[in-house]
Amino acid sequence: MSHPQQTAVPELVVHEATVRFAGLTALDAVSFTVAPGSIHALIGPNGAGKSTSFNVLSGVYRVASGSVRFGDAELTSLPPHRIASLGVARTFQNIVLTRGTVADNLMLGRHTLTRAGFTATALRLPSALREQRRHRERVREIAEFTGLGARFDTPVALLPYGDRKRVELARALCMEPKLLLLDEPVAGMNTAERLAMARTVTSIRDALGISVLIVEHDMGMIMRIADRVTVLDFGRLISDGTPEHVRKDPAVVRAYLGKES
Ligand SMILES: Nc1ncnc2c1ncn2[C@@H]1O[C@H](COP(=O)(O)OP(=O)(O)O)[C@@H](O)[C@H]1O
Ligand SMILES: [Mg+2]
Repeated sequence: MSHPQQTAVPELVVHEATVRFAGLTALDAVSFTVAPGSIHALIGPNGAGKSTSFNVLSGVYRVASGSVRFGDAELTSLPPHRIASLGVARTFQNIVLTRGTVADNLMLGRHTLTRAGFTATALRLPSALREQRRHRERVREIAEFTGLGARFDTPVALLPYGDRKRVELARALCMEPKLLLLDEPVAGMNTAERLAMARTVTSIRDALGISVLIVEHDMGMIMRIADRVTVLDFGRLISDGTPEHVRKDPAVVRAYLGKES
């Protein structure tokens, strides 16, 4: 599968981002850069600031200071829907998909890209119908790409857990993002589902050329698929580099000792 718009994928530059909650510094002057077309992992023990980082990048939380640049755009002052329309899509750690078929849920992901207004669609104008058909074709292509082709018309409520996580990923891809933010995409999955998801994430980078920023507790997976890893602990950046560099970094070993397996 290729990317329909051949627009360049910009760099994401987080510069000294600081987030505070009533006395607690959740992010303390954190800086890292996600290179275009790379898989970049954000890891760290519980409470390190990983989800806070995602919430800053997607416009849900505001920084007290610092900046987040995505190409020419400064994201820290933009509302979530503007950030989404710049090509930043996210998945959520806890998914609640209960209604509609796989196809219905993926069409929701097209929402920001749909030009024909409600009236044109309701009146079944030829232009609106053409656009609907084009969207549906692309959505089917994305379903095939993410391994959901055979489930296209299945109600999501009937899908096994692993497939529901895939629907969440596919829905984000339907926004045609340039940067995909994945919050724990293999949480709760069994070994086979984890391996399949790791392959899908790698193929997203390879086939679409987009950047992927991934928060994940599965260290084995991160070490296998990430091009670069940023490690946070108590809101501070403690290591940044290749998976090999980070794995051997004494600061990382110390942070994880006695905290998680
Ligand atoms: N909305 C919030 N209000 C208050 N404290 C928060 C909020 N969001 C996160 N925190 C705190 O910020 C710190 C970092 O949290 P979080 O980013 O969720 O960590 P992680 O995702 O790495 O486990 C934690 O101490 C957490 O309790
Ligand atoms: Mg979290």
